This record gives sequence, structure tokens and C-alpha cells, in this order.
Amino acid sequence: MKAIEVENLCFSYNGVKALSGITFSVDEGEFIAIIGPNGSGKTTLLRVLLGILKPEVGSVRVFGIEPWKESEKVKSLIGFMPQKEHISTKPPLLVKDIVLMGRAVRKSPLSPLSKEDMRKAREALNAVGLDDKWNTKFSELSGGQQQRVLLARAIAVEPKLLLLDEPFNGVDIPSQERIIGLLDELSRKGVTAIAVVHNVSPLIHSIDKILLLNKDLIAYGSPEEVLKPENMVKAYGAVIPIIVCEEGFVHPLFGDTHG
Ligand SMILES: Nc1ncnc2c1ncn2[C@@H]1O[C@H](COP(=O)(O)OP(=O)(O)OP(=O)(O)O)[C@@H](O)[C@H]1O
Ligand SMILES: [Mg+2]
Repeated sequence: MKAIEVENLCFSYNGVKALSGITFSVDEGEFIAIIGPNGSGKTTLLRVLLGILKPEVGSVRVFGIEPWKESEKVKSLIGFMPQKEHISTKPPLLVKDIVLMGRAVRKSPLSPLSKEDMRKAREALNAVGLDDKWNTKFSELSGGQQQRVLLARAIAVEPKLLLLDEPFNGVDIPSQERIIGLLDELSRKGVTAIAVVHNVSPLIHSIDKILLLNKDLIAYGSPEEVLKPENMVKAYGAVIPIIVCEEGFVHPLFGDTHG
């Protein structure tokens, strides 16, 4: 079964087009990067996959399910890391509360968290390198640390599909590398992963495909196929310099801080 099948998807906010005629599919276990300029519909696409938004035209299937029709069912298969999230600080939540949140909402309201829930949450926090912050107030963490806690929450639910909206925003390079290692490992275990990023370079060795979006789907395929100058001009209105390194990997150079 395909993890994701999208056909001729269109979506508008109050009559203004955000996504137009999007068709693509993702196999189970694939790791996909979504790139495109600000306002190109990347977050909107993730929200359609989550069932938060209903397609205006076209069909969307996630593991064979129509997300907007069976939003709860589809959400139970997905670990989601939002681009921005306001976490209420009154009462102040601890890091462990946030990481456990994803597992808690999957249980019936009266069933308490189990040892297994605790263990999975701790493992996830450890995986993002913040094991020592288990009992720290979330509001007292730095921005990048908060991002990593939200990633831990997404991983802790043991999802079949990970949807990550700019997971590396404000995250330092060592943490970023650690997280990429973790995503590689999950991908090898058969988890399907989709990450919206502005800089694809750090992920270039990990991903199977890139989806280049600018309301329309400009290109979808291997990094070599997608990162061609003509595609970059169509999406960004400018040529993005690209270097091809030893093993034939192409590296786009937008905002590259990766050496
Ligand atoms: N809730 C909303 N109501 C109205 N318009 C919206 C809403 N959310 C997004 N839009 C519009 O839809 C378009 C696509 O937005 P979206 O958030 O999907 O872009 P994005 O590719 O994720 O951008 P960024 O890189 O800045 O995160 C934008 O023009 C945006 O202004
Ligand atoms: Mg966005």
C-alpha cells in the first residue's frame, strides 16, 4: 500500500489559491523533503494530509484513508511536528508533559499513562539529546530546545508517518545532525517521513525524493532531477547555485551553513 496518494489536489483560503493540481505519491518507508518559497503551500499540504483541511478538489489518501473524513484515525498514524506552536505557560508545563502529550491524546480519557508510555517518551527525548530536561519547565528552554522537544513528542507516538514542518528551525548543527541520524534510523525501520525544510543540503544523503512546491507542484523526484536550475527559477524566481560533489550528489547552496 502507498503511504500517501494525492491526485489533483486544489485548496484555497477564502477563494485565494494555496495549492493547485497537486499529484504525487509516497511509498511506505520513503523519506521526502518538501521545499518551496514562503507562502508556497507547504504547511497547507501537511494540514491537508492531517485531515485538518478538506481538499477543495481532488483526492487525498493516507494509508488508504481519506484524512478529512477520518481525521482521528489518520492522526493516530501520524507524528506531527508543527511549524510554530503556542504552548500555554499557565500552568507551566514540564518537558515530560509535552513529550507525553502525543501519547496521552491517543488513550481513552480515563486510562492512565503506562510504564511503556513513560519509556517511549524518555527514549524520544533522549533521541533529540535532551534527556536531562525531562523535569524542566518547557517555557525555560531555548527556542531550539523547544523545537527538539516538539520533535520528541512527534516521535514518541511511534508513528507510521512523520510530518515535520521545518524541524531544523533554530536548531544548532550538532543537534540537527543527531536528529537526521534519528530520522535515517526510523526510515530504515519503515517509517515514512516528510520534512518541510528551507535548506535541503543537510538532508541530501538521507532523502529519497524532493517535492518542489510553489502552489503548483514544480517538480517531484530524486534530488538530481528536482534541483535543476530551470526548476529553481520556476519556484524561486532565481537561479540557486548548486554544486555537485564527489559522489555525484547535488548540493543547493541556499542559506547553507553546513560547511
Ligand atoms: N489560515 C489561513 N487563512 C488564510 N490564508 C492562509 C492561511 N494559512 C495560510 N494562508 C495563505 O496560504 C498560502 C500558503 O501558506 P502556507 O502556510 O501553506 O505556506 P508555506 O509554504 O508553509 O510558507 P512558509 O515557508 O512561510 O511556512 C499563503 O499565501 C498564506 O498567506
Ligand atoms: Mg509553512
